[in-house]
Amino acid sequence: MHCTRKVTDNLYWVGANEHRLALFENIHPLTKGVSYNSYLLLDDKTVLFDTVDWSVCRQFLENVAHVLNGRKLDYLVINHLEPDHAASIDEVLLRYPEVKLISNEKAFMQMRQFGFNIDERYEEIKEGDTRSFGKHTIAFVYAPMVHWPEAMVSFDTTNGVLFAADAFGTFNALDGVLFADEVDFDRDWLDEARRYLTNIVGKYGPHIQALLKKATPLVPSIKFICPLHGPIWRKDFGYIIEKYDKWSRYEPEVKGVLIIYASMYGNTESAAVALATKLREKGVKDVAVRDVSSTHVSWLISETFKYSHVVLASVTYNLGIYPLIHNYLMDMKALNLQQRTFAVIENGTWAPKAGGLIREFLDKELKQITVLGDELTINSSMTEEKDVELDSMADSIVESLKG
Ligand SMILES: Cc1cc2nc3c(=O)[nH]c(=O)nc-3n(C[C@H](O)[C@H](O)[C@H](O)COP(=O)(O)O)c2cc1C
Ligand SMILES: [Fe+2]
Ligand SMILES: [Fe+2]
Repeated sequence: MHCTRKVTDNLYWVGANEHRLALFENIHPLTKGVSYNSYLLLDDKTVLFDTVDWSVCRQFLENVAHVLNGRKLDYLVINHLEPDHAASIDEVLLRYPEVKLISNEKAFMQMRQFGFNIDERYEEIKEGDTRSFGKHTIAFVYAPMVHWPEAMVSFDTTNGVLFAADAFGTFNALDGVLFADEVDFDRDWLDEARRYLTNIVGKYGPHIQALLKKATPLVPSIKFICPLHGPIWRKDFGYIIEKYDKWSRYEPEVKGVLIIYASMYGNTESAAVALATKLREKGVKDVAVRDVSSTHVSWLISETFKYSHVVLASVTYNLGIYPLIHNYLMDMKALNLQQRTFAVIENGTWAPKAGGLIREFLDKELKQITVLGDELTINSSMTEEKDVELDSMADSIVESLKG
């Protein structure tokens, strides 16, 4: 049974929702699924933009057949070759033997690597090329490393539709939603959009910046932004473009404090909560406390991109940093996180080491960061004396938030 929606005249969403996948890229937990978007344009020629993951191929094929309504499929434009969008290419080639693939040299090379049987059924385009399919003319713009090297976006100059590939995508299944303005995006979707972007493409901020710059002249003529995951944008472009601009410049969204702690027996946890309480008491409105052991690192990364200040509180573990804090630090480095202010709390019963090691990591491995004061050392549990130190840590965070 088909399940499609009309985007605008002659353009249809023919993607599908995935609810059963637990881990996106086999690493990031999905709590409300994900959508794989594909779009079908009915012009003098019929043109499909990208396919879907193998897991939802059947639904996708039913959708394509329904919208084609007996017409043949003439072209398949591939903006991104990652298998969550490209896995069903083979199936399209089998079912529509006259279809021609349109993409760039790198994408065709990757298609061969993945073993797709494309024969002679392809047309290679280059950056800035345009192709007309009847009334609609499509321009192709390279978007390298957003999210893979072959990635590109396609812009329909006739109706202002931007096929944005992974850019402007988000986790969460659509489940009937098609447009971002049909939901309270800021309340219900933004956290997952940030988690998607920062974890999947966070490392490539400068490449996103390059794409935003290239797209700037197009912005006045953009009417729809159609990503490969999540809802389509047809208004409030400024809202989502500003978010992307901030995330890709590693600029915090809010002045606030994210406290991430590692604690086996609860003493470091108590210190983390005490600090949050002091900060609230001193008037800081945005404070979040997260247990590294029960919060998947993809959420920690997302919130680290959101907040201006991060407090790391870790027990010492075999003379080292608690492994999950270490993993989070490594992820921060891998994703190029920078321009944050940190404070560090360590705990140890016989040889506290975590704080010094965290500080060393921050100083050596992250760019443009500030670490406030010395690390605060707890010897097993908090004392009145340490509470005074915690209070001055809170004061210096409050002071720094004013900057
Ligand atoms: C496997 C393991 C290794 C530890 N290694 C160290 C260590 O190298 N140095 C140290 O001072 N404490 C070490 N500790 C002790 C804890 O860091 C310590 O008890 C902590 O002070 C208590 O904090 P918590 O109540 O937040 O878990 C270790 C504890 C465990 C379980
Ligand atoms: Fe991707
Ligand atoms: Fe994707």
